[in-house]
Amino acid sequence: VANRTPLIAGNWKMNLDHLQAVAFVQKLHWTLKDAKHEDGSVEVAVFPPFTDIRSVQTLIDADKIPFALGAQDLSAHDSGAYTGEVSGAFLAKLDAKYVIIGHSERREYHSESDEVVASKVKAALKHGLVPVICVGETLAQREESGPTAVSIAQLETALGAVSASDDIVVAYEPVWAIGTGQVASPEQAQEVCSALRAVIAAKLGDEAAARTRILYGGSVKSANIASFMREPDVDGALVGGASLVVDEFAAIIRFEK
Ligand code: G3P
Repeated sequence: VANRTPLIAGNWKMNLDHLQAVAFVQKLHWTLKDAKHEDGSVEVAVFPPFTDIRSVQTLIDADKIPFALGAQDLSAHDSGAYTGEVSGAFLAKLDAKYVIIGHSERREYHSESDEVVASKVKAALKHGLVPVICVGETLAQREESGPTAVSIAQLETALGAVSASDDIVVAYEPVWAIGTGQVASPEQAQEVCSALRAVIAAKLGDEAAARTRILYGGSVKSANIASFMREPDVDGALVGGASLVVDEFAAIIRFEK
């Protein structure tokens, strides 16, 4: 079994303004004092809205809080006449380590195709950010083509511009499990995550496949995190709603297998 550090990531979506974000991170840090993330055995990352990133980065830096910072999206372009877009170069300057790409909400509400996702992955890597590539099927797609086909196809395209030495994270988020309380079973998560690891192996080689962390996302809570973490190909979680509640997110980070 490969030695992958679990990653517990909180995708705040469009919640918490910069003042609320700072208060939240302070409280989470205090709640977790002496927890295992302090010794590096679990990595914690928060993904606030763009407008919070500078404030959270200043706090993390000043108080030496061991959370990684990420953004929820980025532009495929470096700079220029792209009103409303945010460049990976700007995010890297704010010490963002990660960037979520291809979340189902971006794919659905902003019509992001697999090709757009691939171009954003390329931009992230160019600026030294680790892309958290999201894939996952709707219920209708699962019924039509089975549990793995959509995620495999999405990941294959997203990996177009990735090379074997690049650091990436993959998140399997079945659309039917996002914000619905209808969580996938650990076996369902494992089935898709292991198929995704096979895609990485085929495209980037065995070493990359063994090293890359694959997360499950969709209605993760403190009550179900351990069951996912017991699965061999699930290396962490991308948490939405439960990452907005300090005690709940802290309990997820403290999961025991
Ligand atoms: O990116 C995380 C997310 O889409 C899952 O949301 O609220 O079901 O944990 P939630």
